[in-house]
Amino acid sequence: MIIEDFMPQVGDGSIRQKLESCLRGDPKNLPCVFFYDHRGSELYEEITKLEEYYPPKIEIPLLRSTARKLKEELKDCDLVELGSGDCSKISVILDEVPKEIRQTIVYYPVDVSKNAIEKSACNLQQKYPEMDIHGITANFLEHIEKIPGRRKRFFCFFGSTIGNLPESKAIEFMADLGRVMNHNDRLLLGMDMLKDIRVIEKAYNDSQGVTAEFNKNILRVTNSHLGTDFDPEDFEHVAFFNRESSRIEMHLKAKRDLEIVSPVLNEKIILKKGEMIHTENSHKYTENDIRKMAQAAGLSVENIFTDDKKWFSLVEMVKR
Ligand code: AVJ
Repeated sequence: MIIEDFMPQVGDGSIRQKLESCLRGDPKNLPCVFFYDHRGSELYEEITKLEEYYPPKIEIPLLRSTARKLKEELKDCDLVELGSGDCSKISVILDEVPKEIRQTIVYYPVDVSKNAIEKSACNLQQKYPEMDIHGITANFLEHIEKIPGRRKRFFCFFGSTIGNLPESKAIEFMADLGRVMNHNDRLLLGMDMLKDIRVIEKAYNDSQGVTAEFNKNILRVTNSHLGTDFDPEDFEHVAFFNRESSRIEMHLKAKRDLEIVSPVLNEKIILKKGEMIHTENSHKYTENDIRKMAQAAGLSVENIFTDDKKWFSLVEMVKR
């Protein structure tokens, strides 16, 4: 088992610059990749267990049924999972694949969280000793060239993480992937579907406040990188569906006037009471959106695997 680390470290100047410019923006925002420090990854795992948070409840059985249909495709593959997190999703797939096929696979989990990669790669290696594992910590959305593989590749990107990107960036990402793909490579992309808005809004406003904690944790991560003195308790978690953009938006709303200082900042960051910091978008798609995006990215949709209610889709794509 190998683990390679391409993530910038705490204290990295480019991270500080990025965070500062986002916080001086109008409106202020923070990139959602900064949710996922150690605590943030734990909180996200907690979210996935919540009653209200439907995506994994639909996606996991769908992964199982889809794996049964696609298992032959995995033979002699470099299996590259972007945003592998705790590797629980790939396990669902690998459980459906016969050991003789697993032996021929090299699994490449790619994630921004070093902790997640280390922990999960170890667990997975114990579960499937016959399979080679090569973990990579990288922000693949920015560094697609870090994506490995020499043989036939099967790319997976589950959880509808692509939904965090604005549509133009999602298409760009798919097109970038398309450019590194060979003609017999495949992409299996998890996409959360547009549905009753009450269901969507509840999933991001859970009754136990775990999503609120997850949202506020981005301020702790910001403090650790930027030396700022954000107090998460000065903010309120706000999540709502934006119909025009077909996305959930998460924000942090200042409960009072705030002046944020840091030894590395020349000027304070001023927030007015009620001002919001935009922390995340999570797009919800229609089948039509999916086909249009694939078309624009130069990919072709081979299959859309979905559940009875059409709440979530696994979209199989190839290079066109
Ligand atoms: C991990 C990006 C798929 O957008 O639903 C969960 C993150 N944010 N609750 C999502 C998240 C709030 C999640 N993704």
